[in-house]
Amino acid sequence: MSGAVRPQDPPAGAARRLARPEIVELSPYAHALWTPTLTRLHANEAPWRPAGDDGAWGLNRYPEPQPAALIERLAEVYGTSRERVLVTRGSDEAIDLLSRIFLRAGVDGILQCGPTFGMYQVAARIQGGSVAEVPLDAAAGWALDAQRLLAAWHAGIKLVYLCSPNNPTGNLLDPRAIDAVCRALDGRAMVVVDEAYVEWSRSPSLTSWLDRFQTLVILRTLSKAHALAGARVGALLAHAEVIELARRVIPPYALAQPTVDAALRALAPEELRASRARVEALLAEREHLRAGLAASPLVQRVWPSDANFLLIDCHDADLVLHRAAAGGLLVRDVRAHPALPRSIRVTVGTRAQNDALLVSLGSP
Ligand SMILES: Cc1ncc(COP(=O)(O)O)c(C=O)c1O
Repeated sequence: MSGAVRPQDPPAGAARRLARPEIVELSPYAHALWTPTLTRLHANEAPWRPAGDDGAWGLNRYPEPQPAALIERLAEVYGTSRERVLVTRGSDEAIDLLSRIFLRAGVDGILQCGPTFGMYQVAARIQGGSVAEVPLDAAAGWALDAQRLLAAWHAGIKLVYLCSPNNPTGNLLDPRAIDAVCRALDGRAMVVVDEAYVEWSRSPSLTSWLDRFQTLVILRTLSKAHALAGARVGALLAHAEVIELARRVIPPYALAQPTVDAALRALAPEELRASRARVEALLAEREHLRAGLAASPLVQRVWPSDANFLLIDCHDADLVLHRAAAGGLLVRDVRAHPALPRSIRVTVGTRAQNDALLVSLGSP
């Protein structure tokens, strides 16, 4: 089915004024009506199921656009309302959507605090946006310098990314510094706080700040603490007008039905309890790995971590990569960033995996 309808436009709020005019004016694709009680002769689907398909909703059927049960559950788990949730294919897709909604090619750009997650700048460049970087303060444990960030901001910067805990440095950003950025830029730029790793930090999410700031966006994912990286589920949390803009841009059937089913299983109360216990166990394992790495003769420094990985500075990073590979282990070379000339990022694994790495690196 194809066609376009123009939804009732809500009055322009702060985010709509920052968005690309083409997106504000866009007539989005009108997907096939979603009425599960009626027989589907309207979406050009096959009436039989494919081999091996025993799910509740056949794979021959298009999935529910923005699945209501999953949105309801994500809203409960994240402590917000349904109108403030968009479900995406991982937070990578949310980052891509934000670039496409807010960046006019050759005109607008993003500001990020490096070293940080690489997708912010890739998504911005794909959209033809510019990328400015304000360094995190390594001497202060990779702290966010709000004053320096605000001095670098100008009206052409539509998206400001704050990753907390930050990848690859592992530290939480000080909420007081994030608050200073939000206060100064609310209504003038979208401040995007990426909380992909917040479950490992024992610190609360900043989602409740959506009540205080109009142009704040929080990114969450089921890829990390919920162990669903392969299913691709993320959430963009923001004011309803941002969600409405994003719903115009996201493909209508973004989330595959097996993915929705897996996410609902992971978010069931008993599974949430189990995953919280696994997170706690992994935090103890992080400490074991940290102590072991700090004792390795190849490691110069292990940075404190609020995430499920550790950033290490090495005496000879090539040798660390070589020894790990010889032990059958992959670790991440993050030396491409100028602030990390000797650094490797190590994900915390099981006790056996962590010990195998420690043996490879000659830890006593
Ligand atoms: C900080 C950060 N944000 C977002 C993502 C993307 O996560 P996903 O697309 O799997 O939700 C990652 C992945 O490593 C990440 O490190």
